[in-house]
Amino acid sequence: MDKLVIEGGVPLNGPIRVSGSKNAALPILLACILPQGEVNLGNVPRLRDIHTTLKLLDILGCETSFDGNNVKSRVCDLKIEAPYDLVKTMRASVLCLGPLLALKGEAKVALPGGCAIGARPVDLHLTAFEQMGATFDLESGYIHGRCDGLKGTDIHFDFPTVGGTENVLMAASIAEGDTIIENAAREPEVVDLADFLNACGAKISGQGTSIIKVEGVSSLHGCDYRIMPDRIEAGTYMVAAAMTDGELIIEDCPFQELDAVVYKLRRMGIWLEEDDQGVRVRRDNGIISGVDITTQPFPGFPTDMQAQLMTLMSLAQGAGTIEEKIFENRFMHVSELVRMGANIKLKGRTAMIRGVEKLTGAPVMASDLRASASLVVAGLAASGRTDIQRIYHLDRGYERLEEKLSAVGARIWREKE
Ligand code: EPZ
Repeated sequence: MDKLVIEGGVPLNGPIRVSGSKNAALPILLACILPQGEVNLGNVPRLRDIHTTLKLLDILGCETSFDGNNVKSRVCDLKIEAPYDLVKTMRASVLCLGPLLALKGEAKVALPGGCAIGARPVDLHLTAFEQMGATFDLESGYIHGRCDGLKGTDIHFDFPTVGGTENVLMAASIAEGDTIIENAAREPEVVDLADFLNACGAKISGQGTSIIKVEGVSSLHGCDYRIMPDRIEAGTYMVAAAMTDGELIIEDCPFQELDAVVYKLRRMGIWLEEDDQGVRVRRDNGIISGVDITTQPFPGFPTDMQAQLMTLMSLAQGAGTIEEKIFENRFMHVSELVRMGANIKLKGRTAMIRGVEKLTGAPVMASDLRASASLVVAGLAASGRTDIQRIYHLDRGYERLEEKLSAVGARIWREKE
């Protein structure tokens, strides 16, 4: 297994480009099951999860090719089973359920199981599909869904689930009749999926609001589409600039989709401004202040930026709190940050962070994707050497991170563990 080694203490300066969004690319790639004809996707990031999804598409009978930026996909002979060996490595595989039920009237998808950050059930997905006419049996850890064609209906989500909204959007796009999704997720990646489906001939409106309307059409056609840039990668670079007291220009930055993060960063004393080259980020006057953060569904503060902001707050003058309200176990990075000298106390789903003068490098362990990112930005600012093990977590969601950070001055490289 690989590890990342960082000699910290170097301010990062210069331009850094954001890749395509993992959380937009995954549902859009699985939505490629739906259209008849070829789909060309641009700005697809080179990530482990993308390769996993392409493998799943191949298993399901799609012909795909990926040149490191563009994906071509065409459905050939569609199968209905997503195997456990693959689903267990990436829970987003459950997003093939909607397209398969809508197209084939049957789907066998391994129950994704939990992950480091929580149980992450899919009950809201299944309830919605049952309302559309599907029935489900649980057989040896597989969800076996059947339907005699999905029917459009009114769906109300108890929680604005991102994956649940995406699964229903894909199924409803070719269901018989109209579907209204109430309390839909408003994340930008959901909007990107809806826009992709509309480019394939779907009739979706209201994406980005809590009420999405879908007029079922008989079939979808191929299209060319560019994946949106990754707002969480962009937010991670904002924190890296602030942590190292440098100045980064973040290129292809989805600035508007980061309002809640930008608001908190400005309250912490970080200066951010968008110009024609990108978004410039640096500390305002050298001091970082503590703030209080609660993670919420979009447009609230994103849970995927929680670990990174905690790391920044560990260098604040004063204290701050972070309440994690989306996932039940998303504080795995805390013990590792404490090993680097951070002063963080946990009380249930709230962390109290008291800023310290500096962090010191140490050997640490990555546990999940965004926890890994928080350890990277901690290592960039810490004095001395930080070795981050199990870096495969990071490779799921950050493309060539050590290359991009080295290019703006970081002393960071990959080694065998
Ligand atoms: C998506 O996960 C993202 N993943 C996550 O990013 C992100 O943290 C999350 O949305 C919230 O923004 C992808 O897009 C691939 P949810 P998803 O359904 O769809 C509960 C990353 O780091 N829930 O909105 O799984 C669930 O347990 C990843 O890039 C149910 O109870 O998120 C969780 O507590 C991590 N029943 C909460 O809702 C359900 O049927 C949020 O889940 C579905 C969800």
